[in-house]
Amino acid sequence: MNVMVVGGAGYIGSHAAKQLIEKGHEVVVVDNLYRGHRKAVHPDATFYELNIAQRERMTEILKEHAIECVMHFSALTYVGESVDNPLSYYENNTSGTIALLQAMQTAGVKRFVFSSTCATYGEPDDVPITETMSQSPVSPYGWSKRFVEQILLDQVQADPEFAFCAPRYFNVAGAAADGSLGEDHEPETHLIPVILQTLLGQREKVVIFGTDYPTPDGTCVRDYVHVDDLVAAHIAAMEALEPGDARFYNLGIGKGYSVREILDAVERVTGMKIPIEFGERRPGDATTLFANPNKAATELNWTAKLGIDEIVATAWNWHKNHPNGYEDE
Ligand code: UFG
Repeated sequence: MNVMVVGGAGYIGSHAAKQLIEKGHEVVVVDNLYRGHRKAVHPDATFYELNIAQRERMTEILKEHAIECVMHFSALTYVGESVDNPLSYYENNTSGTIALLQAMQTAGVKRFVFSSTCATYGEPDDVPITETMSQSPVSPYGWSKRFVEQILLDQVQADPEFAFCAPRYFNVAGAAADGSLGEDHEPETHLIPVILQTLLGQREKVVIFGTDYPTPDGTCVRDYVHVDDLVAAHIAAMEALEPGDARFYNLGIGKGYSVREILDAVERVTGMKIPIEFGERRPGDATTLFANPNKAATELNWTAKLGIDEIVATAWNWHKNHPNGYEDE
């Protein structure tokens, strides 16, 4: 298939482009390189440096490459930043996606895979989280994605040939097994890379954000899924899409790990001791989030193959060899 990967220079998008190319798809990467990295773009992909709001140019590229499916990973993704600057989140994540959908409509592209998030559930009614649970985001980031989900549902009503899948991500982590790609965020706030940067001496210590949560060890619980597993679900969804489809999937492994358990896993895999400090709760953190991934298992025949040890081992391999991310290349 001819696939456009929007945000293909970013963390998840770059892994998606790689896996698509390895499966024989033709890939066009579009990225404005605001937080993406030119060096993360796959050498066999055709690359355009472009903002998704540039509708006319986007339409031309979609037509020129006879794109059959757009996978859209380009987004601002920091919950805290979205609280401080909601307009840029709605502009990039919501308006930007509308512009992309309009370009697709003009170019006649009917398949869309959209990165959504478990942040659309807000504080969930219960765990594990199923796709039909109520969605009340607690941050502009979560709302910016939730709005797009609604827009997609409306678009499928308006155009019965349109089809979309919106996977809702839990905590994506890990790196490509061959060491060619990994996580390189500025600023970095995610737990596993923060721990690994500490082991590399780039940070003094890991601060555990809250030890008084109502969980077995007092720290927050999350569902960590390997980026390559996550991407595999996107490709399965893309291949399964039929006109009129509106699919949502919770992508996680279906098991939660506390912050302390992640620290233990990193110490086990790396054989190193992590300097830690107990800190205050981070505003906006939910207590426990993990997926019920049964719908993706039943409908896409997808389950995560890689566990926490592989997540940490691949991430550690990347960070050790690229302590300054893509700048080291
Ligand atoms: N944590 C620490 N110390 C750190 C960093 C994180 O204790 O230095 C804790 C957090 O408090 C949280 C857990 O580790 O309990 C995981 O935090 P991350 O920042 O790695 O991930 P989040 O669960 O906050 O965020 C993820 C995605 C977001 C998404 C959010 C939805 O990365 O894009 O889930 O809740 F919006």
